[in-house]
Amino acid sequence: MDAMTLLHERSSMGKLMGPAPNAEQLDALYRAALRAPDHKELTPWRFIEFSGEGLARLGELFAEAEYRENPHIDDASLDAARKKPKRAPMIIAVIAKVTPDLPKVPKLEQVISAGCAAHAMMLAAYAQGLGAMWRTGHYAFDKTVHKGLRLGEHDEIVGFLYLGQLGGRHKLLPSRDPKDFVERWN
Ligand SMILES: Cc1cc2nc3c(=O)[nH]c(=O)nc-3n(C[C@H](O)[C@H](O)[C@H](O)COP(=O)(O)O)c2cc1C
Repeated sequence: MDAMTLLHERSSMGKLMGPAPNAEQLDALYRAALRAPDHKELTPWRFIEFSGEGLARLGELFAEAEYRENPHIDDASLDAARKKPKRAPMIIAVIAKVTPDLPKVPKLEQVISAGCAAHAMMLAAYAQGLGAMWRTGHYAFDKTVHKGLRLGEHDEIVGFLYLGQLGGRHKLLPSRDPKDFVERWN
């Protein structure tokens, strides 16, 4: 696929089916991520790949997070949380592995770099004909989830990338005109 077409036309896909991306496709995804802009070469990235039983374990963690927030939660809501990761045959959690107190590379820059890595993976998925959806929900910011995924004190989850085969057609692209976003100082 032509690079500019990819950049102009990438789109998310919420409906995802198996099989999960294969080893070669995943390798291409991670290689794209590892080319994210990275101030001072901190490589502030960590990825956790969930599939099969791993998705069930992530679902348990989501349910535990819900329960800790609200011990009176009903079973149906707990079950809904448990099922969330099953919306795709694979999820990759993209984590900003943050080194604190660096004068030249504040936390924000490290988190942005991890966000760029996530976007590169979204692009690499689209370029390979895979479906992908970047989700955070409230779980990305939840203490129980952070602990369960062994995040360091300053780390952040920038997203859960849901990945699989296209389960539907891509939606129409929104029409956006650069002139509505760009200011020029000539
Ligand atoms: C950091 C981040 C978090 C997101 N979290 C969610 C989410 O939890 N649930 C959701 O439906 N969409 C979420 N989105 C939006 C979708 O991934 C997607 O970008 C949006 O539906 C627009 O579709 P498009 O990517 O095809 O333009 C998130 C996007 C970003 C960048």
